[in-house]
Amino acid sequence: MMRFTMSQDTPGSTATAANPTQQGDALENLLHENRKFAPSEDFAANAVVGAEVYAEADADRPAFWAKQARELLTWDKDFTQALDWSNPPFAKWFVGGEVNAAYNALDRHVENGLGDRVAIYFEGEPGDSRAYTYAELTEEVKKAANAFESLGVAKGDRVAVYLPMIPEAVITLLACARIGAVHSVVFGGFSADALRSRIEDAEAKLVVTADGTYRRGKPSALKPAVDEALSREGDGNGHTVQNVVVVKRNGQDVDWTEGRDHWWADTVGAASAEHTAVGHDSEHPLFILYTSGTTGKPKGILHTTGGYLTQTAYTHKAVFDLHPETDVYWCTADVGWVTGHSYVAYAPLINGATQVMYEGTPDSPHQGRWWEIVQKYKVSILYTAPTAIRTFMKWGRDIPDKYDLSSIRVLGSVGEPINPEAWMWYRDVIGNSGAKQSPAPIVDTWWQTETGAQMIAPLPGVTATKPGSAQVPLPGIAVDVVDENGASVPNGHGGFLVIREPWPAMLRGIWGDPERFKETYWSRFETMYFAGDGAKKDEDGDIWLLGRVDDVMNISGHRLSTTEIESALVSHPAVAEAAVVGAADETTGQAVVAFVILRGDAVDSGDEIVQDLRNHVGKEIGPIAKPKIILVVPELPKTRSGKIMRRLLKDVAEGREAGDATTLADNTVMAQIAASLKK
Ligand code: WT7
Repeated sequence: MMRFTMSQDTPGSTATAANPTQQGDALENLLHENRKFAPSEDFAANAVVGAEVYAEADADRPAFWAKQARELLTWDKDFTQALDWSNPPFAKWFVGGEVNAAYNALDRHVENGLGDRVAIYFEGEPGDSRAYTYAELTEEVKKAANAFESLGVAKGDRVAVYLPMIPEAVITLLACARIGAVHSVVFGGFSADALRSRIEDAEAKLVVTADGTYRRGKPSALKPAVDEALSREGDGNGHTVQNVVVVKRNGQDVDWTEGRDHWWADTVGAASAEHTAVGHDSEHPLFILYTSGTTGKPKGILHTTGGYLTQTAYTHKAVFDLHPETDVYWCTADVGWVTGHSYVAYAPLINGATQVMYEGTPDSPHQGRWWEIVQKYKVSILYTAPTAIRTFMKWGRDIPDKYDLSSIRVLGSVGEPINPEAWMWYRDVIGNSGAKQSPAPIVDTWWQTETGAQMIAPLPGVTATKPGSAQVPLPGIAVDVVDENGASVPNGHGGFLVIREPWPAMLRGIWGDPERFKETYWSRFETMYFAGDGAKKDEDGDIWLLGRVDDVMNISGHRLSTTEIESALVSHPAVAEAAVVGAADETTGQAVVAFVILRGDAVDSGDEIVQDLRNHVGKEIGPIAKPKIILVVPELPKTRSGKIMRRLLKDVAEGREAGDATTLADNTVMAQIAASLKK
């Protein structure tokens, strides 16, 4: 299987994406991938958007987006200016406009006679299911909005959300948006510590959670982490949470703090279903979502309203060729990640689509669960991650082959580079099931928590797709690949992925830290947003994403920081020093591999200490961050200035001969490590 082995050097150093030909055979193979699949005539003829959109957007980007904003959203007050870029990198989109996200996602569809259309088909892991029509979902959101207001939540207040993949998650997000409260979702796989620091950083007033969920047929608790997060001493001045609303999902026993805790059924259930949405300023904060960067402290990425809704809705329509009257759309992402925000909670509902929402894992109670769901609801657009596709490949095609997947007509991929083998398997096995005239087009979508919405992707009725490439910037998006000095590279060359012009769904900053926003994204190349990814332009000018060029790892499409895990490891009393790398992994893309030096007085009790350290990371950050492998070593490779050379450790972790080690302060270190690992 081809691997994407970018070096982990910092963006400032030379031996990285600027010269991807040094990346070895895997990348060479990738760049010789030259299959191409043009859209079928039939698909192209019925596509929602055609090739003309590129020229239209190029002619005047802000005007193009202003047109989309007016077409896709219903504004309470029209805007007077599409883009204000007078104070870069702080953009304002649709200046002076007022819009309500929840009204656009719900009420207006009911007013337009679509109240009986199913908004969400929910499928619980144990097999329970519920459907919400647009009318029903609107009612639930109005009740939740009233309930949150009655608990003292007002416009601008922050609400922390720690929920499983159940409809109440979407209801909570839209209820917050409705009243202008800013939601901050914390993925259920994060620990009490991680939850606590995010609650503190955003100064949340309310937490919405559940007793728990189901994982592989067993109850899995959430409420205890909230209790722990709120009871412990925090890093700062204490927390500001006044109330906790608890959805009853799995019926587990929970501890209860009288006066603070409220069952969802008692508060939301009892609230009035009358609630009038008012427009919020286009730049009113919609949500904060924490993501890992190159430092130990997660960044609260801030998104605002008008631009975010416009670009998520436009891309959802154009990239998935959405026909809301007939399509059934399913995005498998958890609402704890940005994909679950943009392409579960917001865009599909803004566009009046019918979507599926599934609570559990793909193998519960059997490995055909997803395909059973596709068959049951006749899913026509499926949006998932390469790691899932590779897992299904491993399980074998005979499993999906047992189901009728003929409803599928568009397939999406997101989260990490999709290798050509996985892409072809996705097309042949999932996209070509049943008696099809032609296989479903695959759209590989590149974007980030920071970009808010898709940025690079083929248009399924226009682009001849290439296995493994996200290919083209979306209309109205100015992406480029540049060299060390910020100069655009010619076709056939690699470099750093940048965004040259502001875009509607761009992050507006890092919560509480405008300097860090400038420093992180806008300082590497002046006047350009630096994404942190390496990329290459092929001979046609199409873009191939090559993975991160910084200390950010991508595990199953989830973003983790090497530094964050290193900090967690060194906070354990037995650890003197730690270095973490993301090593290529067949299924998860990358896997966390940690190298630790134990303290002199710590006994290396072999497996025991390793297990202890894994659990410690799980507790500090969350189960998703637990290293797959922990290697106890005598030394770490460092430069003379003391910087750990992760590149060399990555070579070790991936079973290669370590590369150029001439800049090491002590050139015997790699031999020492090799010797210690042979023991
Ligand atoms: C990083 C962003 C976008 C939602 C999920 C992840 C990588 C994302 C692709 C793709 C190659 C991709 C990048 C990016 N990435 N999509 N289609 N091809 N790489 O959001 O957690 O903010 O991570 O995911 O490295 O920088 P995120």
